[in-house]
Amino acid sequence: MTMLRPASLALATICVGMSSFAVAQSPAPASPAAAPAAPALVPFEMRLGDLMNTLVQPRHAKLTLAGLEANWPLATYVLKELRQSLDGIAKAVPRWNRLPMGDMMRSLTTKPLADVEEAIRARDKAMFATAMTSVTRACNSCHTASDHTFIIITTPDQSAFPNQNFRPNR
Ligand code: HEC
Repeated sequence: MTMLRPASLALATICVGMSSFAVAQSPAPASPAAAPAAPALVPFEMRLGDLMNTLVQPRHAKLTLAGLEANWPLATYVLKELRQSLDGIAKAVPRWNRLPMGDMMRSLTTKPLADVEEAIRARDKAMFATAMTSVTRACNSCHTASDHTFIIITTPDQSAFPNQNFRPNR
């Protein structure tokens, strides 16, 4: 029996590699029409959970952090964004699992958000913290009312956004 020396082993490997390369070369399509069509893009609908996770949760956190830093221009901005998100959700999802989600959204969040606005205008950190606690309570009231008691929103004590400065420009 002949022993394969390392050199012939290496040659065998190259041959195998070359032949598999040749196999992988599929014949060119006869005409562009015969080319396989790219998969069609399927529109993705943002559902309530997606909207909460994407729009509402980060803005609740950012608003809290801006207020804790007494960054009133940023707090004013994020409050507007949060309101727009909640308004948009109320319109986009007026009913959810037989619940009047739009009406619940408005009735639970309007007053606490108005209190936050007042605290920002007064540049009052203590008042802001109290108002944000009411906002957080409103979040959780609705989660409870909609049978999602396990989604518990809290006051963040640190930023989850390492690439944003919440302190005011001085
Ligand atoms: C009027 C009702 C309502 C209010 C107010 C509300 N939520 Fe929700 N939220 C829901 C419902 C219902 C779900 C579950 C949606 C689902 O699973 O389809 C949910 C889900 C969530 C989730 C889970 C999403 C995920 O993928 O992790 C988060 C986070 C969340 N809400 C944050 C908040 C925050 C923060 C607030 C307050 C600023 C808030 N929500 C206010 C109704 C509400």
